[in-house]
Amino acid sequence: MIDTPIAVEEYQKRRDRVLRALRGGVGLVLAGEGGPQLHGTWRPDAHFAYLTGILHEPGAAVLFDGRNPDPSRRCVLFLKPRDPEMETWDGLREPLGSPLREATGFARVMRTPALATLLMQAARRTKRLVCLHPPASTRAPVPADLQEFRKVQERLAGVAVDDQTDLLNAMRAVKSRAEVAQIRRAIGATRAGFDAALATLAPGVSERDVQNALESTFIAHGAEGPAYNTIVGAGVNSTVLHYNANDRMIVDGDLVCIDAGARVGGYCADVTRTYPASGRFTKRQREVYEVVLRALKAATRAARPGVRFHELDEAARGVIERAGLGDFFLHGIGHHLGIEVHDASPDAPLEPGAVITIEPGVYLREEKIGVRIEDDILITPKGHSVLTRDIAREPDEIEAQMRSARRRR
Ligand code: GLY
Ligand code: MN
Ligand code: MN
Repeated sequence: MIDTPIAVEEYQKRRDRVLRALRGGVGLVLAGEGGPQLHGTWRPDAHFAYLTGILHEPGAAVLFDGRNPDPSRRCVLFLKPRDPEMETWDGLREPLGSPLREATGFARVMRTPALATLLMQAARRTKRLVCLHPPASTRAPVPADLQEFRKVQERLAGVAVDDQTDLLNAMRAVKSRAEVAQIRRAIGATRAGFDAALATLAPGVSERDVQNALESTFIAHGAEGPAYNTIVGAGVNSTVLHYNANDRMIVDGDLVCIDAGARVGGYCADVTRTYPASGRFTKRQREVYEVVLRALKAATRAARPGVRFHELDEAARGVIERAGLGDFFLHGIGHHLGIEVHDASPDAPLEPGAVITIEPGVYLREEKIGVRIEDDILITPKGHSVLTRDIAREPDEIEAQMRSARRRR
């Protein structure tokens, strides 16, 4: 039932922490509804995935009710009812019972039609509901827990709704050892993918060939698949930040920006490297490349507990500005990385255990030069560790690796 290699006890501890932080308030975390299996891969809400490790149960929910007199009802998992006809289409599902309780680590598992009644009972008893799902923006849909809480408020007087929408963001921003282990596995598969990309890359192959080399290697190294849409941008496409058509032929003289990561055990890697298609950087390409690499190193040196992203951004931006290229560093310096590629981000300084990306870039459309270099970094008690250091990024190393890949062809 748990779809990651992380132990059931770790998920129980995460839920216990939420229960304690809620201090008797009632919280609800919803997986979200699923579409038909044929149309893309459904993924649960990341807070739900973090609290359960259950990745294949659309419609599921966790109810926190810490002051319930029955201890087995203080944290309840709700799963959709079984539908034997739908199981023919979408796969077999488990009956309620002790094997399911043991597999999920919940003392109580119920079916979703019971949720509305239990939520109302909890609200009558506590008069305090607590939002855990963060709102994305004023234009995004109202978070699913707040939608349910409003229905309670329409039917029951005197119920307060509190905000703890940074609680799970803050928990998720400090990775456990087991989480870091999954991210390291994702980076291992990603490294193999980049080796395969370098061995494939040459004038006359297509961006798609490079994408295929990356993604098939991810899967051969244990990945569930790519963590996000792979970007292989050659020539002018290297300057398009979220390019993913990947349908152009690569020609001599192109710089090729590759932004790709594997997902392993439910966790993402997110790596960018920029390579010369011919195997050698031109003088100008190398000049721009070295500015971006210096910016990456400056921001990485600044990465330690207590620092905020804007300080990393300033360290990188200073280098790029001094090189006269400040107007061409168009995006932020990085983000947290984990269950999601752009993982939960609390409004707080970095703590030991945070895993982040650092990804400066310079995009010169008219020169067809787009350079981004992106590393994944673990914040440690004393500083940081570059988890992606084995994926070559020094220009001499890249050229040497390409030369030796070509000799082997
Ligand atoms: N691959 C998306 C990003 O680097 O943020
Ligand atoms: Mn990336
Ligand atoms: Mn990134």
